[in-house]
Amino acid sequence: MSFQNEIVKWYELNKRSLPWRNTRDPYVIWLSEIILQQTRVEQGLPYFNRFLSQYPGITDFANAEETQILKLWQGLGYYSRGRNMLYTARQIRDNHNGVFPNTYDTLVGLKGIGEYTAAAISSFSSDESKAVLDGNVFRVLSRYFGVDSPINSTEGKKIFSALAQSLIAGQTPSIYNQAIMEFGALQCKPKSPDCPSCPVHAGCEAKTKGTVALLPVKLKKLKKRIRYFNYFVCEQEGQLLVRKRGPGDVWQELYDFPLIETENHFTEVPEQFSHAVQEYFGKEVVIKPLAAHKHLLTHQTIFVQFFGLDNYIINFKVKADIKRVSLSEFDGLPQPKVIANFIESYTTKQ
Ligand code: ADE
Repeated sequence: MSFQNEIVKWYELNKRSLPWRNTRDPYVIWLSEIILQQTRVEQGLPYFNRFLSQYPGITDFANAEETQILKLWQGLGYYSRGRNMLYTARQIRDNHNGVFPNTYDTLVGLKGIGEYTAAAISSFSSDESKAVLDGNVFRVLSRYFGVDSPINSTEGKKIFSALAQSLIAGQTPSIYNQAIMEFGALQCKPKSPDCPSCPVHAGCEAKTKGTVALLPVKLKKLKKRIRYFNYFVCEQEGQLLVRKRGPGDVWQELYDFPLIETENHFTEVPEQFSHAVQEYFGKEVVIKPLAAHKHLLTHQTIFVQFFGLDNYIINFKVKADIKRVSLSEFDGLPQPKVIANFIESYTTKQ
C-alpha cells in the first residue's frame, strides 16, 4: 500500500473526534485553523466553542467590535491574529457579499490567511487539491522521505511544497490533509515517537538510518530581545489607572497599567528609577514591590515587575493615554495575559 493510503487508513482508525471536522463551512474551518495556529487542540477547543456560539456566522463576526474580539481572544497571545481576523471578516462582508470564499486563490489574498490556511480551508470545505504544510506535515515528510533541507529555508520550503503537493494527487484532499496532520500530531510525534507501532516504519528513511530524532532540520532563529517592564498598580476604592497600548509595540490596543520600561533588572529600587517614578506620579509617591513574572513571547522575553503605589498624583492632561476605570470595567477590556493573571491574583488577595 502507498504511504498516502497507509496514512489515510491509520487516520480512519485513530482520528480524534473534533468539532471542526464535521463541517464544510469555510467560516467555521477558518475559525478553527486560526485558533489552532496559536495553540494546541485541547486549549483551543473552548476558544473555538466560545467564538462560534458568540458569532455563528461571518457577518456576526464582522459586525463585532474590536475590543469584543480581543477579549474573546484573550490568553491566546499574538493579538494581531485576532485583529486580522476582524479585518478579514469585514472584507468578506463588504467585498464578497458576506460569503466566505472557498477557493485557494481567493483565500490566499485575504489578510492573515497564508498558504497553509488557504490550503486547509479550500481542501476541507470543497476538496480542492492543495496540500497543507504545517509543523506536523514537515516532520512526517522529513522523516519518512529523509529530507534534511531546513524547513525554514527557501530551498527547503520549495522541496517540501513540491513533495507534499505530489502526494495529495489521487487522494480525497479533505481527508488526506487531515490525516497527515493527525498522523504527525499523534503518531510521528516530535519527541520519542513510538516507531515500532507505526504503520509506515518499514518504508521510513529516518527510521532505517536512525535519524528520527534529528529531523526535521530547522535553522536557528536570532536571539530574543530581552525587556524589563515595571508596571504601577494604582488602585483606590476599586478604581484603577489603566493605559491603552498604542501601535508599534507588543500588545497593540490592549489595556495594561502605567509603565516604565528599564534597561536592566533590579531587586533594590535604584535611585534613577525612583526619580522617574516621582516625575510620573509626584514627589510624595510611595513604591511597594508586589510581584514579578517572566513572560515569554515569540520574539521577546519580558521580565515584568508590579509595584503598588500610594500617595500618587497624576496629570491626566499630560498622560493622555491613562484613564481611571473600575475593576469590573477593566475586566471587560482586552488585556495581555500577564496583566489578566496579575489582576486575578490581586483581586482574590484583596
Ligand atoms: N491543527 C491544525 N489544524 C488542525 C485540524 N484541522 N485538526 C487538528 N489539528 C489541527
